[in-house]
Amino acid sequence: MDKNQALTLLEHAKQVASNAYAPYSKFKVGASILFKDNSTVQGCNVENASYGLTLCAERNALSTAISFGKNKEDILAIAIYSPNTNKCFPCGACRQWIAEFSQDIQVIVENNGDNALIYTINDLLPYFFYLDK
Ligand code: THU
Repeated sequence: MDKNQALTLLEHAKQVASNAYAPYSKFKVGASILFKDNSTVQGCNVENASYGLTLCAERNALSTAISFGKNKEDILAIAIYSPNTNKCFPCGACRQWIAEFSQDIQVIVENNGDNALIYTINDLLPYFFYLDK
């Protein structure tokens, strides 16, 4: 993942953030997932009058990816963007969701407009929960 690829993925996340349904918090978030075949899937946050039912952008994007038949092994990265804040890191629940699919997924957040910060989900959520089978 080079800087230009990361910035392009952040641009997708920025575009989808404009579709966010966030009448309560007014805090819009977009997420864009990059796959090995270079395809992408996006999601935005969708709030609800019963606040706790709100769906975050990252989980919306991941659900959409799975619904479209994407394989978890093919996820390379997820970029997260909010027009409301610099460095929009995924919440704890979304970190657990990302970690479900691979510990190597790269998590990209925007820093000051022209810079992308790149982590792995393992950096952000070491010792994630999993079921031993
Ligand atoms: N939100 C996300 O979409 N992703 C996160 O990782 C954290 C928070 C949304 C949920 C809610 O609609 C708004 O941001 C404010 O919390």
